[in-house]
Amino acid sequence: MKTTTVSDAQTRAVGRRLASLLRPNDVLLLCGPLGSGKTAFVAGLAEGLGIDEPVTSPSFVIARRYDGGFIPLVHADVYRLGSLNEVLDLDLFDEARDAVLAIEWGDAVAGAIPGEYLRIVIDVTGDEERQITFEPHGTSWAPRPFQDVLS
Ligand SMILES: Nc1ncnc2c1ncn2[C@@H]1O[C@H](COP(=O)(O)OP(=O)(O)OP(=O)(O)O)[C@@H](O)[C@H]1O
Ligand SMILES: [Mg+2]
Repeated sequence: MKTTTVSDAQTRAVGRRLASLLRPNDVLLLCGPLGSGKTAFVAGLAEGLGIDEPVTSPSFVIARRYDGGFIPLVHADVYRLGSLNEVLDLDLFDEARDAVLAIEWGDAVAGAIPGEYLRIVIDVTGDEERQITFEPHGTSWAPRPFQDVLS
C-alpha cells in the first residue's frame, strides 16, 4: 500500500487523512532517512486530529504530548537515544495509552513492542518526491480502509 508525494504539503495531507482512521492506543512507527518528511507527516496527522498547536521536531525533548484534539497525540523521536533500553525507559507506551503514539526512527523499537502497529516508511525518490508505504502489523490494523488515505 503506497503513494507518492511531490511536496511537503502533499505528505502532510496524507498524514491528515490518516487521522480519520486512528483511535486511542494506536502506535505508528515512522521510518525513513534524515529529512525524508517524518515530522511533516506527523504535523499533518496532528491537523487531522484537530490539534491547533504547530508540531515541531521533538528531537531534543524526545517526546511531546498534544492534548488539544479529538484524540491526544504523543510524538516521539528516538534518534538520539543510544539503546533500546533508553527508549523503553521512557514509558512512552504507558503514557500514550489514551493517545495516538507516533515514533520517528521507530524501527529502533519495532522488535520490542506488542505486535499491533502501523509502520510508515518514507523513501526519498527525488528532490521533492517521496514514496510513502503503509505496512499494517496486527489484526486491529488489517481491516482499516487505507486506500482512502493513500489515494
Ligand atoms: N514530498 C515531500 N514530503 C515531505 N517533505 C518534503 C517533500 N519534499 C521536500 N520535503 C522537505 O523535506 C524536509 C522534511 O523534513 P522533516 O523534518 O519532516 O523530515 P524528518 O524525516 O522528520 O527528518 P529528521 O530525520 O531530521 O527528523 C522538509 O524540509 C520538507 O520541506
Ligand atoms: Mg523529524
